[in-house]
Amino acid sequence: MQENREHWGNKLGFILAAAGSAVGLGNIWKFPYITGQNGGAAFIIIYLICILVVGLPVLIAEILLGRHSQRSPVSTFRLYAQKHKTLWIAVGWMFFATGLIILAYYNVVAGWSLGYILESLTGKIASLTSASDAAEHFRGLITTPAWILFWQFVFVSAGGLIVYFGVKNGIERIARLLMPLFFIILLFLVVWGISLEGSDKGLRFLLKPDWSTVNFKTVLIALGHAFFTLSVGMGVLLTYGSYLNKHDNIFFSGVMITLLDTVIALLAGLAIFTSVFAMGFDPAEGPGLVFHVLPAVFSSMPQGGLFSLLFFSLLSIAALTSTISILEMLVSTLMDETKFSRHHIVIGISLVIFLLGVPAALSFGEWSHITVLKLNMFDIMDYVSANILLPLGGLLVALFVGWYMTKKGVLNELFQGYGTDLSKQRAGSIWYFLVKFVAPVLIFLVFLSAIGVLR
Ligand code: PHE
Repeated sequence: MQENREHWGNKLGFILAAAGSAVGLGNIWKFPYITGQNGGAAFIIIYLICILVVGLPVLIAEILLGRHSQRSPVSTFRLYAQKHKTLWIAVGWMFFATGLIILAYYNVVAGWSLGYILESLTGKIASLTSASDAAEHFRGLITTPAWILFWQFVFVSAGGLIVYFGVKNGIERIARLLMPLFFIILLFLVVWGISLEGSDKGLRFLLKPDWSTVNFKTVLIALGHAFFTLSVGMGVLLTYGSYLNKHDNIFFSGVMITLLDTVIALLAGLAIFTSVFAMGFDPAEGPGLVFHVLPAVFSSMPQGGLFSLLFFSLLSIAALTSTISILEMLVSTLMDETKFSRHHIVIGISLVIFLLGVPAALSFGEWSHITVLKLNMFDIMDYVSANILLPLGGLLVALFVGWYMTKKGVLNELFQGYGTDLSKQRAGSIWYFLVKFVAPVLIFLVFLSAIGVLR
């Protein structure tokens, strides 16, 4: 297994692929709408703290675990768990299940984005001049089963096809070319949003915290999103880390990935909320937010159709590089654990993911009446995976690296490719302390409060 394992082409390859995994719908679609639903600035502050003291340390721990083992999650736990082996192997399979659930509903939203490329090409988006027109149009589309299932299918197939033929060369190259372009368009949207009349209300929403709306559930959502947006807590970065060479710098890569991901989420928030307030939308709109607001923004600017086309193309690509990373984790787990070939696994898994996504896809129309605790199927899959399974996965990674492996072994792995001068040793100790004590305690407290034990 280990001898013929593939490795990244060059130093940047891993950072780009991992950043490609991190930057996705979570940054541009989800971050703005949950910020809107949870009160703006105060939520962002809590989110940033979660990223810094929990997300980043666990992200580094996960990459480290993968590079150390050079294996997929289940095999990694089997290799290193001296005590409670069966339990840890089950954790590996929990990562697998989390991947299936996230991928299933993620593809649905990615499908919307893909469908909006065609809507841009036909000139439809540019013709949606008012906010309510755009919202109406979106609602019409996502309640049409044929539209939604078709695009979901196309997207699942696209991801499957790339992983079928091998990810690295294609995806590394695409990411390198398109991420900068994505960044430029995002910056343009930020400037455009700020220049709109009434955008100051949006800035206030993003910058002036109102703590009165914050409760433990807000913290749980912020923590869950910190994991989601960094792709942490389900073995995806562990898998990507397993393709790393020993001379690569895990610490630096982890910081870069986190920084890129955070900056892109904040810029997306800036672009969207200046426009939301300038155009009189409700910031607490929910999952449709980006799909209502941006079309209205695009139609108000010259060459709006072109921008719309570029934006949704790039959003789809950002989503694609994220889905590929999840698919790669699923595929590599089955490749390590079964005798099936990559090709057969990809076809089988893609089919399962499409079918699992159908209830999520139909949640806004045909099956909207199927709810549990007022949540439809889509919301349930999102809530359970992002707010429960990912933080739980992160907690377990932190416990494994902090308590099940030796400190010496862990720090040796960290310092390989990083160096051991004094400042680095200090950074290493702080990181180890965060992983061993701070992250587990915080995640645990947030869980207790979410289930009502703490108030
Ligand atoms: N990080 C991705 C995003 O923000 C989603 C993702 C979650 C990808 C978990 C992989 C693993 O869109």
